[in-house]
Amino acid sequence: MVVKEDLLLQKAYYEIEKNKDKVINDPYRLGYHLMPPVGLLNDPNGLIQYKGVYHVFYQWNPFNTSHGNKFWGHYSSKDMVHWKEEPIALAPVDWYDKNGCYSGSAVESDGRLYLFYTGNVKRKDGSRETFQCLAVSSDGVTFEKHGPILKLPKGYTAHFRDPKVWKKDEMWYMILGAQTIDKQGVIALFTSKDLYHWENAGKIAGAGMNGLGEFGYMWECPDFFHLNGGDILLSSPQGLEKEGDLYQNVYQSGYFIGEFDYENLKYRHGHFTELDHGFDFYAPQTFIDEKGRRILYGWMGITDDTEQYHPTIYNNWVHALTMPRELMFKNGRVYQLPIEEMKTLRKEKVVMNHIKIEGNEVQYDCVEGKSIELIVELLTVGTKEFNLSFRHEAMLSYDPSKKEISLKRRNLKTGYLEKRVCKISNLSKLHIFMDCSSLEVFINDGEQVMTSRYFPNPKDQTITINGDAEFNLSKWELEK
Ligand code: FRU
Repeated sequence: MVVKEDLLLQKAYYEIEKNKDKVINDPYRLGYHLMPPVGLLNDPNGLIQYKGVYHVFYQWNPFNTSHGNKFWGHYSSKDMVHWKEEPIALAPVDWYDKNGCYSGSAVESDGRLYLFYTGNVKRKDGSRETFQCLAVSSDGVTFEKHGPILKLPKGYTAHFRDPKVWKKDEMWYMILGAQTIDKQGVIALFTSKDLYHWENAGKIAGAGMNGLGEFGYMWECPDFFHLNGGDILLSSPQGLEKEGDLYQNVYQSGYFIGEFDYENLKYRHGHFTELDHGFDFYAPQTFIDEKGRRILYGWMGITDDTEQYHPTIYNNWVHALTMPRELMFKNGRVYQLPIEEMKTLRKEKVVMNHIKIEGNEVQYDCVEGKSIELIVELLTVGTKEFNLSFRHEAMLSYDPSKKEISLKRRNLKTGYLEKRVCKISNLSKLHIFMDCSSLEVFINDGEQVMTSRYFPNPKDQTITINGDAEFNLSKWELEK
């Protein structure tokens, strides 16, 4: 297996080398987001701060820009701002993961780093097998595979994956995204004393539980954590129908707030809330860092029918991760804010206070760019829509009569405008991170977030504002 692994790794590194110039010179390459060095990236995996260093692994197909046999790519950082590309962490070469080292998580125990992931195996007849696997490291860079530690239990189909592990007191807990044999999406729980032997503790959430009826045919990428008095379950359900402005993307990612009873291994929770209302957000994962912050990364993409129309595909790469966001639980909901460290990217600052517009459009040469941070504090808003347009390719609008924010962009496949909407309380603040081909909009200090890719003319740096309002504006150019 070692020879096979070496060959595959060499092939992947060769792919990076071969495409380096093309990838780096892509005008849509982002300035301050994690991207694949070549090929396709999807879910963030194995997030952890280990021996002081932040690690982000990611689902990766180095060989082309479609979803193939996934590797775990790896970046590390001291500050979550400046990143180092590490050697490939996991490659799909073993009998139990030959068609993909699928998503999973990381924990530390006795100074060692444990990665739990799903080994995906496709049989000749097209059906699949799933194995939950372990790989261990003592330096955070080289990993030794231990193979499967958990086989598919009865009652589930082979859509059973994405282990997320945590510790409480002396016990380890693992949740998995799963599909029952009657095709319902659920979360399965396991417990362990030693990380190697796992006991089935049944389902803790999903269709037919906690007042949910049918709720999708598969739940992917679960996560679970305690935050400021709430036990929060994240999951990415597939198969929800659109409901008005809800569930607009092909798949969803959101959370439940509840209470976990560790004695009886039961979880009671409330309703499902989407985490992000943009076009491109899926499979988020969190970790707790040494400062005690709960930090989330998401995949700034999704497997929809526009995926293969991203213009970066011409340069042999596609997708990125979101910026890291700190989670807060207050007023009964999860707030998300850019981590403090993002401020270290700020360069020249432009401040303009008490700008008054009365139905007119404004545009300032000092407020333009591709890779910038913008804060707009609304002092008064009239009855008209308040609009911010980005590089003639995306537009954010606040409708005060409906208390609603919408984000529009051009659909990459059809060329028609498309829109995502979210409800908010009164708009007081927009905190916007623009990168060369992405927008992350934090509304009212993290009450809602809208995340999207967009692909404007690379030369266009124009930002225009119109409406009937008075506001303060700050803008920073951001370091690459
Ligand atoms: C989510 C997902 C996971 C799976 C991985 C494969 O995007 O489908 O459920 O582990 O991607 O790349």
